[in-house]
Order: sequence, then structure tokens, then C-alpha cells
Amino acid sequence: MTEQGLPPVKVTDLKVILTAPDGIRLVVVKIETDQPGLYGYGCATFTQRPLAVATALEQYLKPFIIGRDVDRIEDIYQAAYVSSYWRSGPVLNNALSGVDEALWDIKGKRAGMPVYQLLGGKVREAVPVYVHASGATFESVEEAARRYMEQGFRYIRCQVGIPGLTTYGSRGGEVVKALDPKQERTWEPTPYVRTAPKLFAHLRKALGDDIELLHDVHERIPPIQGVWLAKALEEYRLFFLEDLFAPEDNDYFRIVRAQTATPLAMGELYVNQAEYVPLIKDRLIDFIRCHISDIGGFSMARKLAAFCEFMGVRTAWHGPGDVSPIGHMANFHLDIATPNFGIQELALGMFHGNTPEVFVGLPEVREGAVWLSDKPGWGMEVDEEKAAKYPFPEHRYGGAWPEIRRLDGTVVKP
Ligand code: CO
Repeated sequence: MTEQGLPPVKVTDLKVILTAPDGIRLVVVKIETDQPGLYGYGCATFTQRPLAVATALEQYLKPFIIGRDVDRIEDIYQAAYVSSYWRSGPVLNNALSGVDEALWDIKGKRAGMPVYQLLGGKVREAVPVYVHASGATFESVEEAARRYMEQGFRYIRCQVGIPGLTTYGSRGGEVVKALDPKQERTWEPTPYVRTAPKLFAHLRKALGDDIELLHDVHERIPPIQGVWLAKALEEYRLFFLEDLFAPEDNDYFRIVRAQTATPLAMGELYVNQAEYVPLIKDRLIDFIRCHISDIGGFSMARKLAAFCEFMGVRTAWHGPGDVSPIGHMANFHLDIATPNFGIQELALGMFHGNTPEVFVGLPEVREGAVWLSDKPGWGMEVDEEKAAKYPFPEHRYGGAWPEIRRLDGTVVKP
């Protein structure tokens, strides 16, 4: 018997579910137990290298976890983390996340409670979210933002295309001619850096002061242009400016911080503590944006959220389309129980198409927020038969992020 007088429950199997209901390759872990009907799901989605994660799970974590006591999440987490000796990195962290989150789902089901209850319960009624408005012109971005405002959204990320260039978050129309005429995706930082402040001048004037505006640089510009951009954007009072620098340029945060009060969000590319702890400890960023499965899952994320609370840093977990709906549920459950929550990115795509028939139990979205049910665990079922109907599509780049190059042919960060 366990401490609570419940019969002990052992892991009997680990299954990897590979599915792409709407073209995005998702990896979900199912952990089965010796108690009939008791199982859990976790997100292990690393969409650019999904089969590497599947191999790590099937070959290494499956034999590792079979026979273990499902109640010991932290112990399993610690043991799995060091079992490869070399650790961290997106492949192993995603595999670990799949196991970790499946165990939290099981824990919630055993307690008869949603996971957020196990963290101390709700600290807010619902989870405010931001959505993505983009377009080829300032007017089309404004129009997209207005449509979201009419639907009740109060936080909007705005991205505009730069004519002729492959711009992050928006299409740029006709392609400029690079030195190699066959080059497909061309990007130059300077036209973008010149344009972004003009976009926000337009949006503030058109949309007023009440709406919260966000922007993602996506690490594409030389760091000193990032410093200039953060200063130029200050007067438009962004809710946050995201990924101003690449993780490799972390030290620039100290420089930009001394020069502007533009709120800084960072973190979707981080995979280990050595990358994010110094920035948080020294209060160099305002929002932590980690992709929960890429830092090792829910157990790591809840510790990171608590650490951020002490340092005045708010959470804004990465929530794009290449997080599985199980991973989004992990985001929402942490959001609703975290006092230093900032905002949640919401991928509206998962509410349409084939995804809702595979991932059953998506939460309600209204008044610009996500409303969670009180179903046990994550509150979500995976229809495995339907999932199997959507195998990974053939992909021209093998799923990798397509190359983006300067006019002269130099590869840049995506
Ligand atoms: Co981003």
C-alpha cells in the first residue's frame, strides 16, 4: 500500500504516438499502467527532429520506466535526466517531457483532480492569451488586429511583411533577386529594422492605447541593430519584445537593459539552466518564454516559474502550432496556478481542422482567455485511432526549418 492507502501502480508500457492531423508533426507519449483504464499523456513534440525523439523514447526511456511506481514523478525525473550521463538538449529534453507530463496526467487522475489543483489551485479565473496578427501591409495587420479585438482578444502580436523578403511571421510578397537567382528565401535585417517602429507608430495611432501589442524579432538581426530597435520601439509601449537576440548573444541583454525600458521576452530556444538562470537572476528579461517540452517538461517548468517569481520575471510559455494540444494543456495548467504569470501564446490553429477530433477536450476560448474544465489530469483524451489516420507527411526539408539567406547567400538564423 502507498502512504494514502491506495494500491501502488506500476508502469506497464510506453507508447509513442506520431501524428500530424493538420500537417504539423506532433509527438505524444502515452504511459500505461497495471491499473485498468489508468494512463497518461505527455507532449514530446520537437517537430524538426521528431523521429530522433521517438527513438530516444522507444530505445531508452521505455525500458527505463517499465515497472516503476507512477507516484514517484520527481524521482523518475531525476533518475531519467542523468541516465544518459550527457544530458539536456532538445531531443532528450523532449523525450523526458513526454514521460514527465504523462506521469502528471496520471497523478491528477489518481487524485481525481486537474493538475493545476496539485500545484495549489487557481490563482485566476481563466488564462489570458495573445494571438497573432500579420499581413503584408500596415493596414492589413491593423485589420487583422481589429478582427481579434472584436472577438475579445486584448493582447495581439503584430508582424508585418517586408517587401521582397522572407519575413518571420508574415509573407513579404514578391521575392527580391539574390546573387544566386535560384535562392528562394532571402532576408536582410536593415529594411526590417527600419520598418518595425513605423508599424507600431501606425498601430498605436490606429488602435489606441488600450490594446496590448507584442512583437517577435526572432533573433534575425545583428545584436547592435537589436539594441537600436528596442530603443526605437520604447515609445509605442509594447507588452513585450521577443527574441531580440539569439541565445548565443545572451550577454547583449545587459547592454540593451541599460538603455531602454522596452519589456523583453526571451527563451523559446533555451534547453538548459545555464542559458536562462543568469538572465533571470540578474533581472535582464521580463518574460520567460521557454518551450516547456524543450526544457524537460512540466516538472522543470514549474520550478522555473517559481524561480522567476522571486526575480520579478513573468511567464509567457511558448505556445505555437508545433506544441501538441497535450503540451498546450500543460501550459494552461501551469498558467492558471502561477502568480507571476504574464501571458500565454495561443495557437488558434488547433481549434480547427482535424486536430480537435484527435485531441478531444480542447478548452473553451472566450473573452480573450482560455477557460479550463475541472476534469482530472490534463483533462484531454487522445483518440489514437484517429491519430493513426494522420501519419507524418512527406516533407521537402525532412521537417527542418528551410534555409534563409542574405542577398549574398550567407545563411542566417531562422
Ligand atoms: Co517566438
